[in-house]
Amino acid sequence: MIKKDESVEITWKNGETTLLPNLWLRDNCACDVCRNTQTTEKLFQLAQVDVNLMPETVDLIEDELHLLWPDGHRSVYEGSAIRALTIPQTTHLRLWSSEFRPQQFDYGKFTHNDSIAVDAIENFLSTGTILLTNAPTKECLENLAPMLGPLRETVFGRIHNVVVDSTGYNVASTNLELPPHTDLPSYSWPPSVQALHMLVNETEHGESIIVDGFAVATQFRNAHPNWFDRLCYTPVPFRIFDDNNETFATQPIIQLDTGGQIAGVRYSNQTMQPMNPVRTGLNEFYSAYHEFSTRITSDKAKAIFRLEGGQILLVAGHRVLHARKEFVANAKRHLQDAYFEHDNIRNHLTVIQRRLRKIGNTSLQ
Ligand SMILES: [Fe+2]
Ligand SMILES: [Zn+2]
Repeated sequence: MIKKDESVEITWKNGETTLLPNLWLRDNCACDVCRNTQTTEKLFQLAQVDVNLMPETVDLIEDELHLLWPDGHRSVYEGSAIRALTIPQTTHLRLWSSEFRPQQFDYGKFTHNDSIAVDAIENFLSTGTILLTNAPTKECLENLAPMLGPLRETVFGRIHNVVVDSTGYNVASTNLELPPHTDLPSYSWPPSVQALHMLVNETEHGESIIVDGFAVATQFRNAHPNWFDRLCYTPVPFRIFDDNNETFATQPIIQLDTGGQIAGVRYSNQTMQPMNPVRTGLNEFYSAYHEFSTRITSDKAKAIFRLEGGQILLVAGHRVLHARKEFVANAKRHLQDAYFEHDNIRNHLTVIQRRLRKIGNTSLQ
């Protein structure tokens, strides 16, 4: 155990060493004074101690780290818990292109069978899309709330009807081709999950198209790193409005997380607004945007299939772009969509997994 000015170097029993900052150690004391015993929430406030705080003594007893602080406070840490925090947590994403098809899950089983719901949600989190089959051919998206919900409402409504409508506020309400896009880019935080429920589809053509925005952005990054950066750091205005509503957000096309990983794609040719034409670097932005658009709309990126009545396509709204081909408006076509949030879906996954483990444990007794 070596005490340094700012840190303590611990050598564990297996010979591994970890450098632990003094303030991190004090901040993470798990004793009954520093944590609320009912909720486990932290009570200790870092500002209570001096910024140059150092422990008086440091002892490793078996795999437990015991510290004594200058004010007499004692802290004990499990070595295994500290080491677990040093392992990076990565989410496994399966990127895909045109030959990919969303995995299918039966709607009734998804909504009533926990094991199938876990499979489906894990698959969704990894690929960004799944297809629910044998769903009702009447309004039912509210029924997905126990597994995915609550619904994310926007000012444009809760359940959206997409039918040919001459008064509609966007191109979805026509029979025209709808190019790949993500929904509601005019919100600072667009809905992160979208359910597209086909109630009836008796028209010719109008095939559904999905594009893995993360796969396209990854290839684009590898091929043109400077242009990729340009799309990450140039804010772009988007607007969606109707007679009663006006939504507007200025955000980059590609969003990175703090580790530099692709965290979101915001792409909607139809709702993008003119940028300041004298903005510095606009020519380079447009070269980058041209290349990215070419890749997004390329046949190599598009998974194309027909969405039939009674099918619900789930897509990750910050990752997977959706589109449809033009159709002949001579028969019925009725799609409904609603939005959910990724955080809530991950919550449901954890809760369902806990429920399954409980049942598993009970049946073993
Ligand atoms: Fe859309
Ligand atoms: Zn404590």
